[in-house]
Parts: sequence; structure tokens; C-alpha cells
Amino acid sequence: MRVLGIETSCDETGIAVFDSNQGLLAHALHSQIALHAEYGGVVPELASRDHVRKCLPLISQVLSEAGIDKSAITGVAYTAGPGLIGALLVGASIGRSLAWAWGVPAVPIHHMEGHLLAPMLEPDKPAFPFVALLVSGGHSMLVDVQGVGQYQVLGDSIDDAAGEAFDKTAKLLGLGYPGGPAVAKLAAQGNPERFHFPRPMTNRPGLDFSFSGLKTFAMNTLHNHENDNQTRADIACAFEDAVVETLAIKCKRALQQTGQRRLVVAGGVGANEKLRQRLKQLAKHLQAEVFYPRLEFCTDNGAMIAMAGCLRLQAGQHQPTSIDAFARWSLEELSPL
Ligand code: KG4
Ligand code: ZN
Repeated sequence: MRVLGIETSCDETGIAVFDSNQGLLAHALHSQIALHAEYGGVVPELASRDHVRKCLPLISQVLSEAGIDKSAITGVAYTAGPGLIGALLVGASIGRSLAWAWGVPAVPIHHMEGHLLAPMLEPDKPAFPFVALLVSGGHSMLVDVQGVGQYQVLGDSIDDAAGEAFDKTAKLLGLGYPGGPAVAKLAAQGNPERFHFPRPMTNRPGLDFSFSGLKTFAMNTLHNHENDNQTRADIACAFEDAVVETLAIKCKRALQQTGQRRLVVAGGVGANEKLRQRLKQLAKHLQAEVFYPRLEFCTDNGAMIAMAGCLRLQAGQHQPTSIDAFARWSLEELSPL
């Protein structure tokens, strides 16, 4: 099976070809960061229009980099949700139309399933079952993963997702979009001893997340101190430490609660170096293993969608020729393979 994957759920056009025997053949990404930067966040209509412009040229580029003709594609996978509905519809329409024209099946993929399977693109793949920590701009989740499509959500964000909190705190500190990498860079110059931020929802049982209070804590701290470079760096540092420590506490709890020994970390915040170091240390302490996709596959990409699509199409799953996209979509509604 040779699958073309299309990711257009937010502000990145990701295209890839994944082969069931040879693995990833080629992938390309067009990021819209520059397009949205002046607005301080993603403008949905601009995102949709840019996906329209970039999708087909990127598909041609990826096919040529893979050294194959379109006739070598035996299936198409596209992100059908959750995400920005206009952006999703671009990938869904193009994916469905190409599949119809080429006479091959197409399968809609859940964006978070793509993220949680992304470490399987690496040579050192996690075996099932595992616990997945999914931390992106739209979600903070802990998921019990028994197999492809067998997902039980253990904990979810009740307000801002981890990435969203990074983005909002970055804005407050006068940093650009996306905020995660900018906050992390500034935090490296901060003094970790100066401020201590709370670890939200860790002093009660459960695995849900709430990060909106941290952003408010950052705002109040900034108002109460001299707004200079060092203060901003110290706030970035305390904020990052609080997010990392909160995620580590919940991961520990999830591993202990499920009795599992494998932790998969995916989604944009999974690119955070402090988080990676902290979870590595935690895994060692718990005699567990931790798996990450390579940095470029932590954030949105087409490779994870092509691979998830390949697994589903190989298992005979595809859908009739309807164009479907869902702005909201629970992981627990997916069917097992
Ligand atoms: O998975 P992703 O690319 O898109 C969504 O599906 O949301 O995640 C994007 C999020 C953004 O909020 C961004 O600020 C955050 O991931 N992010 C980071 C880092 N790199 C990206 N957060 C913290 N540290 C990073 N190094
Ligand atoms: Zn994502």
C-alpha cells in the first residue's frame, strides 16, 4: 500500500507519501507562521485560502521527491478533524477528489490519532499498549492506547491547552507566534529561583489539565514587577517549569494508574526540550520507556497522517465518497482496526 497523506487542520500544509513496506518515501511542509504572525494567532479564513494555494503544488513536489508517478498511489488519507473547519475542508475536498480521480480508496484521519502514532515513524517504535501524552495548541490529553483505534481518554484539558497557554504567555511577554519555542528560548536566560508558579490540578486526584490559570499568574506577576528583560525571562522560566512539572506529575499518575511501562509524547509541545529531559528522567525513575517522534514530526505534518491512513487502509477501512470534516471529534469515537 502506498498512501498520500494530507494535513490541513490548522496553519500547516503537510503532505507525505508512506509505503507499507518501505516506510516514509517523502514529505513536505508549508508553514503559515509568517502569514499569521502579524495577527498574533491563526486567522482561519487566511489559513483556508493558503491551504488552497499550497496543497496541489506540494503534492506534485512530494511525488517527484519520492520518485513516483501519481499512478503509484494506492490510497489517500486526509485529516478530517478536529481543527479549523474551513482548513479541514480544503484537505478533505482535495483528498477525496484525487482519490476519486485516481480510482483509489480514501480514508479520513483523526488529527490526534496522527499525533499519537507519530513515534511509529521512527526506527525505535513503541509497541502497544502505551500511554500517550498529547500536548498541542488545541489539546492536552492523556490517552490509554491499546492498539490503533483503541483509545480511552484518561485526562483532557478543561480550558486552555498546554500549547495555547504557551502562545498566550508569549503574547503577554511581547514574543511572537507561535509562542512555545519563543518562551522556551527566553526561559533559558531566566532565573528558576525567582518566581514559583502553581502546578494546576495536581493536588487533587484525576488526570485532567487546566492551564489558563498559569497565563493569569504570569500576567499578575508581570504587573507586580518591573517589566524589564530579566523579569520577562524569569517569568518565562517559571511558567515553563510549571507546565513541564504539571505534565510530568500527570504522566507519572497515568503510568501508575494503568500499570503501563511505555509513554509516548507527541504534539507541538512535545518538541519542548525541558519537557523531554524531565520525562526522560521520570521514565528512568519508573523503569519505563519514553518515545518521541523526531522534532519535525512533533508539530503538525503530513507523514503522521499518511502513516495512520496506511494502517487503516491496509485493514480495509475507507469510507464512501462523501467529503467529511469535523471541527470537534472525540478520539473515543474511532473504530478499532
Ligand atoms: O501540534 P501542533 O503543531 O499544532 C496543533 O495541532 O495545535 O502544536 C502547536 C503548538 C503551539 O501552541 C506551539 O506554541 C507549541 O505547540 N510548541 C511548543 C514548542 N514548539 C511548539 N511549545 C513549547 N515548547 C516548544 N519548543
Ligand atoms: Zn497538531
